[in-house]
Amino acid sequence: MVYPAASFPAARLRRTRRTPALRGLARENSLSVDDLIWPVFVRDGVGVEEPVPSMPGVYRRSVDKIVEAAKEAYDLGVQTICLFPYTDPAKKTADCAEAWNPDNLSNTATRALKAALPDMAVMTDVALDPYNITGQDGFDVDGYVVNDETVEALVKQAVSQAEAGADIIGPSDMMDGRIGDIREALEHGGHKNVCLMSYSAKYASAFYGPFRDAVGAAGALKGDKKTYQMDPLNTDEALRCIARDLDEGADMVMVKPGMPYLDVCRRAHETFGVPVMAYQVSGEYAMLQAAAQNGWLDGERVMLESLMCFKRAGCSGVLTYFAPAAAKIIGA
Ligand code: PBG
Repeated sequence: MVYPAASFPAARLRRTRRTPALRGLARENSLSVDDLIWPVFVRDGVGVEEPVPSMPGVYRRSVDKIVEAAKEAYDLGVQTICLFPYTDPAKKTADCAEAWNPDNLSNTATRALKAALPDMAVMTDVALDPYNITGQDGFDVDGYVVNDETVEALVKQAVSQAEAGADIIGPSDMMDGRIGDIREALEHGGHKNVCLMSYSAKYASAFYGPFRDAVGAAGALKGDKKTYQMDPLNTDEALRCIARDLDEGADMVMVKPGMPYLDVCRRAHETFGVPVMAYQVSGEYAMLQAAAQNGWLDGERVMLESLMCFKRAGCSGVLTYFAPAAAKIIGA
C-alpha cells in the first residue's frame, strides 16, 4: 500500500530516547574516571590546606596533604595528578633557578607521591612563571619573552622533573622548539619512557585568572602573554602547533582552555588521531562553582555535562579541578 504523504514523521528520533535502556544503546560517548587528570596546587609547610578564594573547593596543600588527597582521589579512580607549585615569593628570581632545583616543591611532591602511590601517574608543569619575578613563562628582556634562552632553562626544569620521577611532563610555556629539545634531553638522560603532554594549543586567555591567584603569579605578572600564547581567534594555527609538537616528540597534546575551545579539540582529534586532552581551566571551574553556589545552576549536573562535552568533542581526557568530585559520582 502507498502511505499518504507526510502522515507520520520519516524518522522518529524520539524512539531511542524513550527509556534509559534505549538511551543507553544509542549513546555515542562515555565519560569514565580514566579520562580525568586532577590538577593540584602545592605549597610549603606541613599539614597546610589553604583555600583558594576564587576557586571554591580548591586548596593549596603542603606535600603531606597532597599525598593524603591524592590517596583519596586514587581510591575514587583518579589515576593521574598534575602538580602546580605555589612558590614562596622569596624564592622567585630573574634566573628562575628554583625551577630546576631538585628539591623544589614540585620535585619534592613528585617523589612523595611516587613513594606513596607508585601506580598513580604524576604529571608536572614546565614553565618558568611560578619562579619568575616577572610572572612570565620565560625570561623577559626589555618586555619581550625570549625564546631560545627560555628553552634552555625549560630543558633543565624538565630533566629535574624526570629525575624526580614524573610520568608525564607538560610544557605549558608555549615557546617554539621546546618539545624537541626536551625530548632529546630526556632520551640522552635515561628517561626515554617519560611522556610529553604538550600544551600545544594554549590560548592567551582571560580564563586563567584564578589560577594565577592560586600559584601567586597574579600580582607578579607584568603585561600579558600574547607574544607566546595563541590568539583566541585562531584555529588553523592551533593545528600547526600540534603538528609541530608531534613531529618533535610529543605523545599527547592539549587544548587550553577547554569549554570555549571545543571546536579546536574536535579539529585536533579529527586531523591527527592522537590523544588530545582539554584543560578545563580555573576560570571555567570558578564560573560553574560560582553559579552553583548561588543556586543558579545545578552544580553536579553542569559539572558532569561540561566533562561529557569534552568527550563528545573528541578528547581522550580532561584536566579538571572537578576530578575527585566527578569520580565520586561516575565511579571507578
Ligand atoms: C602557566 C600556566 C597557566 C595555567 C597553567 N599553566 C596560566 C597562564 O598561562 O598564565 C592555567 C591553568 C588554569 O587556569 O587552570 N604556565
